[in-house]
Formats: sequence, C-alpha cells, structure tokens
Amino acid sequence: MARRIEGRLVIATHNAGKLWEMRELLAPYGVDAVSAGELGLPEPEETGTTFAANALIKAQAAARAANLPAFADDSGLCVAALGGAPGIYSARWAGEQRDFAAAMARIERELQAAGARQPWRAYFISALAVAWPDGHTEEFEGRVDGDLVFPPRGAKGFGYDPIFLPDGLAKTFGEMMSVEKHAIPADGSRALSHRARAFQALARACLAP
Ligand code: IMP
Repeated sequence: MARRIEGRLVIATHNAGKLWEMRELLAPYGVDAVSAGELGLPEPEETGTTFAANALIKAQAAARAANLPAFADDSGLCVAALGGAPGIYSARWAGEQRDFAAAMARIERELQAAGARQPWRAYFISALAVAWPDGHTEEFEGRVDGDLVFPPRGAKGFGYDPIFLPDGLAKTFGEMMSVEKHAIPADGSRALSHRARAFQALARACLAP
C-alpha cells in the first residue's frame, strides 16, 4: 500500500509555472502545496543518472529541509536513434539562453549525421517522487511515445513540443492547447502527456478520491 499524501506538501521546485500547475492538480484533493522557493529552501544539485534518481534527490532534500512531505519531478525527451539523448540533459541542450530552437536543430542534425531511418521515434518521460521526513518514498513515472517531425510545428507549447507528434494524433504538442496535453480526464480515461500520466498514477496511489 502506498502512503497517502495529506495536509501540507512542499513542491520542490523554484519554477513558478510548475508550482502553479501542481497547485491546480492538488487542490481538489485538499492538499495545501507550498513551494521550496517560498520556504527559501536551497536547490540541490541534480547528480542522478536517471530521471527517477533526480526527482528523488530533489524530493528528499526538500523533505529533510522543511520537515514536511515533499514532491519533485524530473522530465525530458529521449530519442531512440540517439541512444536516449538528450534525456536527463534535455534542459541543458537548450543552454543558458533556453534556446530550444537550437536544441531541436541539434537533434535533427545528429539524427541526420547518424543516418537514422525515419520515423524518428522518441518519448517524453516524467518521473515523480514523494519523500517524507522519516525517509519513506514513493515514485511514479509517465511516458508518451511519438515521432519527431521537422521543421518544428506550432507555437503553443514550450521546450521540445513543436517536434513531438504523439502516436495516433495529427497535431504536434506545439500545435495543441495546454489543456489538450495536460488535462486529467474526469472520466478516469488515460491522459495524454507524460506529466499528466505520471500524476494520474500518483493520484491513484497517494491521494484520497
Ligand atoms: P526539468 O524537468 O525541469 O528538468 O526539464 C526538463 C526539460 O525537458 C525541459 O527543459 C523541457 O525542455 C523538456 N520537457 C519536459 N517536458 C516537456 C514537455 O511536455 N514539452 C516539451 N518539453 C518538455
């Protein structure tokens, strides 16, 4: 049995967008989300070699520092023909300037240099971790598979959204409204995005209905 999340929860992020999204998702369950930024907690170094390890490092550091249960996530894009790159380095490929046009161009260049046959398969992954001050942890993952398309299409999303065409759909993530991507269907059917799928798994295990 997974441990339930109740009362106050630290969201181990200094990213205002992520905090806002998590607050929205958690509000219906009566969870009071406070951010690591608001509590003035330090940001640990992400030294893990997997998404799950990095999510756990962030959640455990915040749980210890705040003496409250803490939640963290780590996500990225993995390209099959590039051996899973950029993977945990997805943000870093965009550099200090957060230049995702350049990061997407690099992916296309490397796929061409490798002589990779199309379709260029890839997936987005989101690892979520919850850590309690007594050391207990829970971990969840969500994934969405698709093809990469060039040139990039759509300006609605962020990051690598414009090159990701999810299986079975005709629009890239960059051509979709945020709700189409991230919504958690009220009828219990499967969400689309990696992040929403991971949250569905967490909600089923750790949040009261
Ligand atoms: P982090 O989880 O904040 O470390 O960010 C991982 C990186 O992966 C982000 O900078 C994004 O570029 C990329 N990424 C993660 N999820 C998505 C998504 O849903 N769309 C586009 N890019 C994403």
